[in-house]
Amino acid sequence: MGNVISNPENEEESIKEYLKTAKEEFEKKWEIENKSEELVPFFRKDDFQFIKTVGTGSFGRVMVTHNDKDDSFCAVKCLSKDCIIEKEQLEHTYSEYKIMATIPPIDFLVNLMQFGQDTGYLYMVFEFVPGGELFSLLRSVGRIPEITATFYGAQVLSALHYLHNLDIIYRDLKPENILFSDKGYLKLTDFGFAKRCQSRTYTLCGTPEYLAPEIILCQGYHKAVDWWAFGILLFEMVCGHPPFYSENPMEIYKQALEARVRFSCKLTKDCKEIIRLLLVTDPTKRLGNLRKGVRDIRDHNFFRRLSLPEIFKQSIRAPFIPELEGPGDTANFDDYDEAPLLNRDVDPYEAEFENFPRDY
Ligand SMILES: Nc1ncnc2c1ncn2[C@@H]1O[C@H](COP(=O)(O)OP(=O)(O)O)[C@@H](O)[C@H]1O
Ligand SMILES: [Mg+2]
Repeated sequence: MGNVISNPENEEESIKEYLKTAKEEFEKKWEIENKSEELVPFFRKDDFQFIKTVGTGSFGRVMVTHNDKDDSFCAVKCLSKDCIIEKEQLEHTYSEYKIMATIPPIDFLVNLMQFGQDTGYLYMVFEFVPGGELFSLLRSVGRIPEITATFYGAQVLSALHYLHNLDIIYRDLKPENILFSDKGYLKLTDFGFAKRCQSRTYTLCGTPEYLAPEIILCQGYHKAVDWWAFGILLFEMVCGHPPFYSENPMEIYKQALEARVRFSCKLTKDCKEIIRLLLVTDPTKRLGNLRKGVRDIRDHNFFRRLSLPEIFKQSIRAPFIPELEGPGDTANFDDYDEAPLLNRDVDPYEAEFENFPRDY
């Protein structure tokens, strides 16, 4: 792994320039007509062979597909229209689509390649990220060394910084939503709760273990909720379990509101300190949300152990490189039951989904 950065001022300038360009591009694209193929190309189901399910969620499944035309593999997230309507998630799903379709691609986020719908589903076509979930790695090794957590943490930090710069709150940080590329670098997936917003927002959403106190208290919240979740993630990586844990969500919330962080294993002072500074209940006092913003996190000793620009360029060899037999290898994902996708003649929700692109 690489050495510590030598010229922080130049580095700061180039990050600023990069973020500024991304923001201009994003804002211009945000104005494009929602249903236009200019925003994202249409998905034509017949071009793809659906091979295997690699993930299931509350709204459907993610399947690896093969495109015979160019011999490539993709991950298609199939979101059931019935589930979206039943769970009243139309607005969140629309936001997921719009953000994914608009965001200028970077390495640390999965890239939306096509979008489509039929009578039963919305289809979001992503690059297939073959290395499996950070969740599976943690499940198999328990906890990971601090330096590995620095390596992964730096990438998540970059991804969140990138999103926040575009006024997007992510709201669903957890190891299940973090995938390994073939090189062992991370990609954040699942923008199901991501929201573009410049002011405060109130919706209760996310995963109990990762919810910031201000969400639990229904106080109105903003980007700082992602820095709380980032603190939970760092803790979970180095300890092998989240800091606030119970079978009962109410008990988790109670522990989070007290924010008494107890470390179950031996860690360095820097590691404990950064986690404590992130897991501060008052968002105005939380690291990442102070005057210097994300720079306070990047400049913390915990992240000075590795060169962040080298991580950004992906020039450091990753600590764990997935074993893969080919580009469509799904061995790093769990097996799921392969129920066939619903096939019906009539779309009962044509009106509800009329703001999403369609080509039928
Ligand atoms: N682009 C992708 N490549 C590989 N696997 C993916 C991809 N996107 C999602 N998955 C897998 O599918 C799971 C569910 O996808 P996700 O977008 O998180 O849906 P949900 O909103 O239902 O949680 C993920 O946790 C991951 O294991
Ligand atoms: Mg998910």
